[in-house]
Amino acid sequence: MGIEFLLNGETVHVEVSDPTCTLLDWLRETQGLTGTKEGCNEGDCGACTVMVSDIGQDGIDHRALNACILFLPQLHGKSVRTVEGVAASPEKLHPVQQAMVDHHGSQCGFCTPGIVMSMATAHASGRTDHDDVLAGNLCRCTGYAPIIRAAQAAEGTTAPDWVSSDANALKTLKSGHAISGSDFYLPSNSDELADWCLKNPDGRLVGGATDLALWVTKGLKSLGPVCFLSGCSDLKTIEKSTDGLRIGAAVTLTALQSAVAGHHPDFAEMIRRYGSVQVRNAATIGGNIANGSPIGDGPPALIALGARLTLRRGDKRREIPLADFFIDYGKQDRKPGEFVESIFIPKQIDRLKCFKLTKRFDQDISAVCGCLNIHLDHGKVTCCSIAFGGMAGTPKHASHAEHALLGQPWTRASVEAAMTALEQDFTPLTDMRASDRYRMNAAKNMLLRYYLEDVGEAPRVLEVAP
Ligand SMILES: Cc1cc2nc3c(=O)[nH]c(=O)nc-3n(C[C@H](O)[C@H](O)[C@H](O)COP(=O)(O)OP(=O)(O)OC[C@H]3O[C@@H](n4cnc5c(N)ncnc54)[C@H](O)[C@@H]3O)c2cc1C
Ligand code: FES
Ligand code: FES
Repeated sequence: MGIEFLLNGETVHVEVSDPTCTLLDWLRETQGLTGTKEGCNEGDCGACTVMVSDIGQDGIDHRALNACILFLPQLHGKSVRTVEGVAASPEKLHPVQQAMVDHHGSQCGFCTPGIVMSMATAHASGRTDHDDVLAGNLCRCTGYAPIIRAAQAAEGTTAPDWVSSDANALKTLKSGHAISGSDFYLPSNSDELADWCLKNPDGRLVGGATDLALWVTKGLKSLGPVCFLSGCSDLKTIEKSTDGLRIGAAVTLTALQSAVAGHHPDFAEMIRRYGSVQVRNAATIGGNIANGSPIGDGPPALIALGARLTLRRGDKRREIPLADFFIDYGKQDRKPGEFVESIFIPKQIDRLKCFKLTKRFDQDISAVCGCLNIHLDHGKVTCCSIAFGGMAGTPKHASHAEHALLGQPWTRASVEAAMTALEQDFTPLTDMRASDRYRMNAAKNMLLRYYLEDVGEAPRVLEVAP
């Protein structure tokens, strides 16, 4: 059985022989659509950006995605627009293309198709936060001022007719059935996924593929039998209750950012600096947790919030504190055949602050990520949850620092004692991102900064901010 999707408005049916063939390779090598460029082939430069549309819970959802880290089966039931299909008609450019011409937004032009696709996707969704929209598109020649001017000039102009005709065509395309092919399975819900996991305990689950695709494109590895979560709409839900937020494992970082913005604005602001729009539009919170990376940004914030993880194996579910999931570097508490189903964030008064320390403001992996959630009553620390990424082989609580603060008066002296206690919590590594001493000093200073911001004595820092 093959997959079906819209490509520049036409329905295409593809018999998938290699489920880890990327959309970029397929477009360029089999369809002759070479306008989508290959720059880095690892999700960093945006030269391969395409627009992928889908019918979500709230209607049509347009996403800019990097075609180089997108496997073909992930497109089943969706609509793909490449730069070849973006113009309003053969005689008329898309308003963002025209604006790029009018404002001299291109020189060598290698980055231009990807930039145009990011701009066209933002245009279709009515987004005007152009700095964020274009943070994942690198341009070496033009400089961003003319590109941003072009994006601003195109704001509010009429979208080409294909934007609405694709949305109509998508409604007829959606099938909602599981698809299986050689070495891959595309379930349409989590029950089918659970069955597949039981039968294939060593099989590989694909969330957004923002990690896994690099195993293929850079590591040249074979993934073996794979199961894609992209069709499991029941894993993409966010349920709000009086107790908190339950977030499905296949919820993207983009959707998570909106969901937490009203509850924990600092978490949402940190997610804004997670990869780029294209990466956040693909990456799932389940993948960010399950990969067990010591430098993932989601886990420290979620651990600090006391989040709980639901793991499912067949019909059986178990709930554990997220912090307990990370046993050691490369080792998580996940049994064969088990998968991450959801994550629960308990409702609480917002006291969370997240500090993501990177060499570049946008699109950079953290050297240290510190998330602090400290509650007070009558000037004393009553509840204290502090978690770090980048300081050990796993994301984890700073238990000694927490212990040093709990029950103490909320003073600089107490915070300094916790800073000293942090040395018992972590023995960080030196690597290309930071030295061990730098990491330790930075982590300590995050505690101090939390305190100073809290008491209104925030230090004046030269902060790289847009
Ligand atoms: C350019 C770029 C920038 C990035 N920037 C950041 C950043 O700033 N911060 C950050 O934290 N990360 C970053 N990442 C890493 C990556 O985006 C995240 O780790 C991401 O959340 C992985 O999610 P995914 O859905 O894409 O996972 P996938 O690649 O699909 O899967 C990752 C792992 O999790 C497993 N898995 C996926 N879903 C489940 C599930 N439900 N149950 C069990 N196992 C599952 C897979 O089998 C695989 O082993 C970046 C990646 C790229 C390419
Ligand atoms: S080629 Fe660089 S992001 Fe895809
Ligand atoms: S115009 Fe040359 S890289 Fe952007």
